[in-house]
This record gives sequence, C-alpha cells and structure tokens, in this order.
Amino acid sequence: MSKNSKNFHELIEKNVGLLAILIVIAISFGALVEIAPLMFQKQTNEPVENLRPYTALEMEGRDIYIREGCNVCHSQMIRPFRSETERYGHYSVAGEHVWEHPFLWGSKRTGPDLARVGGRYSDEWHRVHLIDPRELVPESNMPGFPWLETNILDGKHTQKKLEIFRNQFGVPYTDEQIANAQQDVKGKSEMDAIIAYLQSLGHAMK
Ligand code: HEC
Repeated sequence: MSKNSKNFHELIEKNVGLLAILIVIAISFGALVEIAPLMFQKQTNEPVENLRPYTALEMEGRDIYIREGCNVCHSQMIRPFRSETERYGHYSVAGEHVWEHPFLWGSKRTGPDLARVGGRYSDEWHRVHLIDPRELVPESNMPGFPWLETNILDGKHTQKKLEIFRNQFGVPYTDEQIANAQQDVKGKSEMDAIIAYLQSLGHAMK
C-alpha cells in the first residue's frame, strides 16, 4: 500500500462522520443496482397471462382476510425451493401480484402458505374449517371465525373499492363490473366472501 492510500484509509477510520457518509453511499449504490432495474422489468411489472382482477365478492373477502389477521399466520409467497414447490405448487412470481394493494406475501407461517390454496378444498370444507378448524384438523391451533357466517354484507363501499383499484392502481375493471359491484355482494355472508377469495388464490398459474 502506498503511503498516500494508507493516510486516506486512516482518515476514514478515525472520522466517524465521514465513515458513516461513505457507508451510506456504498449501501445506496448497492441498493440502486439491485432494486432499481426491477421497477422497469416486464417480468416484475406486468401481469402473468391468466391473471384477472378480483371479483367484487373476492375483493370483499380479501378485506375480511386482512381484518381478521389471517395474514399474520399465513404467508402467500411460495419460495423457489424444492421443499416448498412439492408441497404448495409452482413458486410465486411477481406478475401474479401486480394488482395486490397491499400485497400479502408475508413470511410468518404459523399455518401453511395459502398462495395456491384455491381449488385445493371444497367450499364446504372451508366453511366447516373456518367455523371450527378442529372439526377437520384435530391438532389445529387456528382460531375459529364463526361470526363470518352470520355477518351479512351490504356492499356499501364495494363499488368505491373497485373504482379506487381501477383509477389509482390501474386494475382493469370494466364499467359493468364497477356498476354491479354492490349488487354482486349485497346479502352475501362474510363467509361467502372469504371463501370466494380463498378459492381464487393462485388461479393465474395453475
Ligand atoms: C393463529 C394462527 C392462525 C390464524 C390467525 C389463521 N390461521 Fe389458518 N391455519 C393455521 C394453522 C396452524 C393451520 C394448519 C392446521 C389446519 O389446517 O387447521 C391453518 C390452516 C388453514 C387453511 C388450510 C390450508 C391448507 O393448505 O391445508 C386455510 C385455508 C386457512 N388456515 C385459512 C385461514 C383464514 C382464511 C384465516 C383468517 C380468517 C386464518 N386461516 C387464520 C393458523 C392460523
């Protein structure tokens, strides 16, 4: 090492402020190189071929899923490892989630990943399981959600939700879907909505 570069090194090591600034620059550069290209790549920005927007009922179901904290115990992201793909199916890809606001990937798995649970069980299985999981899985520690069965949707805000998803997030809802949104959910139970949502999960890559 030349004498000059040694002095420079010493200067940085003995000057905490300068060291901190240079660390921030180094990390920012690393982040920029890794993250910025993702924002412009087709693969991460464009929907996969068979993706369709959530129906009005599925959209309400998703909000109930968030309200009840299902995402606290269930992730919706299958990692690209054999142990995961053999159990859950094809690993998750960004293009499946471009219309999710907020996304529900998560990493905490008290229960199994649900990214592709759609179609794995019947509607009736979900209904019984959500009312009391131990009816079907005796060792389950998932709580029951019996009130979903008796809470009835009025759909007052459903149309607004679809409009926001179209206007703010660019989700391609048709005028007809928006116009019918309230009528599509009114009178249905929260159970109907959350089951519709669960059955839709992973549909685009099955
Ligand atoms: C306290 C953690 C916890 C919460 C909260 C929770 N679950 Fe679960 N869930 C589990 C566990 C553990 C299992 C595995 C045992 C079983 O099947 O009951 C499970 C299983 C499931 C399964 C079956 C998955 C499969 O592939 O077999 C579904 C579907 C499910 N949960 C949906 C939900 C929904 C919807 C909610 C919210 C209304 C919810 N869970 C809330 C812990 C939780």
